[in-house]
This record gives sequence, C-alpha cells and structure tokens, in this order.
Amino acid sequence: MSSAETEPNVLIFDDAESLARAAAARVAELARESIDARGLFTVALSGGSTPRRVYQLLAGGEFGEGIDWPNVHVFFGDERMVPPDSAESNYRMASEALLSHVPIPPENVHRIEGVGDAAANASRYESELRGLFKGGEWPRLDQVLLGMGDDGHTASLFPGTNVLHETRLWVAPNWVEKLGAWRVTLTAPAVNAARHVTFLVTGAGKAARLREVLKGARDPSRLPSQLIRPHDGTLEWFVDRAAAAGLEAGS
Ligand code: 6PG
Repeated sequence: MSSAETEPNVLIFDDAESLARAAAARVAELARESIDARGLFTVALSGGSTPRRVYQLLAGGEFGEGIDWPNVHVFFGDERMVPPDSAESNYRMASEALLSHVPIPPENVHRIEGVGDAAANASRYESELRGLFKGGEWPRLDQVLLGMGDDGHTASLFPGTNVLHETRLWVAPNWVEKLGAWRVTLTAPAVNAARHVTFLVTGAGKAARLREVLKGARDPSRLPSQLIRPHDGTLEWFVDRAAAAGLEAGS
C-alpha cells in the first residue's frame, strides 16, 4: 500500500476565517465534481470546533447555493457517546451549523448513534455503510473532513488506543482512557480509502504537534494523524498561519 500513498499537500492560510472560506469552497467544488461524475457526493464530517465555521459557510448562499443537496449524503468520521441533542454531539453541531439550514433529505444524513453500547453502535454504522458502499473492500467516500487534536489524534483515533491497529473494521468502538469515555470512529483504513481527505487545523496550540505529524519521524501510535495516507486519493492539510508556525521554522 505504501508505494501508492499520496504525499500531503499543505495549504497555509492567513487566518482561521480565510481557511474556513477555502475549505467551504473545496467542499462545494468536490460536491459539484462528484455529482457530475457519479450522481452523488458522499462526505464524512468531523467534529471539534474548527469545522463549525466551514459548516456555517456551507449553509449560506455563497457556498451552499451551488450544491445539489438532494444528491449529497453526509456521514460522520466519529461520534461521542452522548444523545444527539447533547452539546457534545458531533451530529448536533453539524446539524445546527449546516444540516438544518439546507435542503438535504433527512434520509441522506447518516449519523452515528451515541446512546447505548459503543460496540453495537459501531457495528450498526458499519452495516449501514456497507449497504451504501456495496461491493468494495473499503468505503469509497468522496471526501473525509478531519481535525487534529493537540495530542495528534484525528477522528477518534487517539494515541495508544487499540483501534490504531485495525485492519478489517470500517467503524470501531474506541475506549479513550484519558477521556474516560467510549468513542465510535471510522478506522484509518476506511478513511484512507476516500477519494479526498481534508484536514482542518488552526491555532498556535497545534503548531508543535503539527510539525511532529508532518515533519517528524513516523510514530503513528503516538501521532495517529500520521496513519492518514489515502492510497488512491488526495490528502490536503488546510492550516492557518498560527498552526503552520512550526512547519516554516527550520523546516
Ligand atoms: C471530535 C473530532 C476530533 C477533532 C479534533 C480537533 O469529535 O472531537 O472529530 O478528532 O476533529 O479533536 O478538534 P478541534 O477542531 O476542536 O481542535
């Protein structure tokens, strides 16, 4: 697999707002291309605070009006084990910022259940994905949006957790000791099967870790974001200048 892995393309923006505008434009562009080519756009959304502004922009006329929402299917890269109306819910954030403002049919929104047993919820979500991405060894999502935590995690692939070694499951439950909580997450091979993967990273607090992830030695059990290398797709890092500080210094 490694010989075909795509090199990351790092795009640096002046600030979080210009990054969000460029990311919204990228989603809209990929939606158009995918729908033109295959009649459908399948995108996995990320949680966290960075994408919220991107979702708000996609809900507005400038970026959202050009999107053929009835042909968009929305998935989630990960979810916390909370009800969908919890302030912690990734689904709630996406819904409030984007999904409730655009004409996407409710049946096109594929959320991860956060109530109940994480293992059962993960396997139910995997079955749902397998039903939609039929026949493939892995799901071929058009785009996966990801954030990176300041510990180097992405989606709910946290440092030192079992799920980092997953080679078979598309979706897995993950016990995160430092949070004392279960998460449900797409696995790295499932993300790596996507056509396009887009990381969104902002703020000075991420600079040192981002440098390690992109420029440091390979150490994915400590830096899970390094596991993300699509084998037949593009990998873009949208980074603001503050987060990119460590990349420019001495690199
Ligand atoms: C989540 C995420 C997670 C997130 C990073 C970055 O549910 O928490 O999907 O992987 O993207 O923690 O989050 P911020 O954008 O808030 O820094």
